Order: sequence, then structure tokens, then C-alpha cells
Amino acid sequence: MSFEIPVLAGSTRHRYDELIESAQALVAGETDLIANAANVSALVYHSLPQLNWVGFYFFDGTELVIGPFQGKPACVRIPLDRGVCGAAARTATTQRVDDVHAVPDHIACDAASRSELVVPLIRDGELLGVFDLDSPVPARFDDADQAGIEAIAAVLLDSVCRRDHS
Ligand code: SME
Repeated sequence: MSFEIPVLAGSTRHRYDELIESAQALVAGETDLIANAANVSALVYHSLPQLNWVGFYFFDGTELVIGPFQGKPACVRIPLDRGVCGAAARTATTQRVDDVHAVPDHIACDAASRSELVVPLIRDGELLGVFDLDSPVPARFDDADQAGIEAIAAVLLDSVCRRDHS
């Protein structure tokens, strides 16, 4: 199978509409979490500008463990009481950090990272992990990015839920 990475144009919101559709097409017919997370991370990394890391951490019942990603090798395990990813997982709310240098708790996996967006993955009330995007540009992520990435995280969760409920 070959999959076209979309050329995204127009307003940020319009771009995300296309990206969400592409993510849906990419996971259609597949319910394996690792497979779909791997392809979603590649899709987002290659579709959006100004990113240096896009990927997943999964909750193993104790801490977050690195999953499929694009970018430089990163920290393998993150306790829930540490970092931006830990905060997203612990509070079950999206974390958007305009300047990671201003967050003492930030875990610097790649020294180039300046801003970060982390969306928690919650399925049936249970923490599955987080979807993490890093940028070398300060304040790279706005409301439209947050809404768009939350929607893409929901596409991934839906694809895995199909397996559980079928
Ligand atoms: N910066 C994150 C750690 C993960 S890396 O960015 C890939 C954090 O503070 O949780």
C-alpha cells in the first residue's frame, strides 16, 4: 500500500480537517495500537511544519514508556510526577507549553525543543498514554493546533476501540 502525505494548504483549521481525514484513512481497517500509533506519528511529523519530535508514550500501569515516534531518540521512561508528559497523564488534560525553558519540570530529551503540546490518551476513563509534539520554535502551538491534535488522538483511540467492541 502506498499512502500520500497530504500537501496541506489554507487556514490552520482547514489544514487540520485534511490531516484528520488522512489519519482516519491511515488507520481504517487496522486496530493494532502500535501499528496505528507509528503511522499517525509519521503522518503528523511529515505533514506539519516546525516540529522536531512527534510520538507516543504509553502507560504501563506505573509510568510512561516510549512508543512509536519520529525524531531523535528520547527518554524511555517518564514517571507521572515528572515533566510535561507526566502532567498531561496525571491531570488527564492537554498541556501546551509556549516556552519549555520556563518550565522547571520540563524533561529535555532534545535540546532543540522550545515549545511542546501533549495530549492525554484516555480510553473508557483509563489512561492509555500521551501524544507528544515538540517544536524548535517558541509558542509554535495555538488553539487550532491543540484542537487538531486532540482530534487526531481521538482518531487513534477510536481505531483501537473498534477492536475492543467488535
Ligand atoms: N519534554 C517531555 C519529555 C518527552 S520528550 O519531549 C520527547 C516532558 O517534559 O515530559
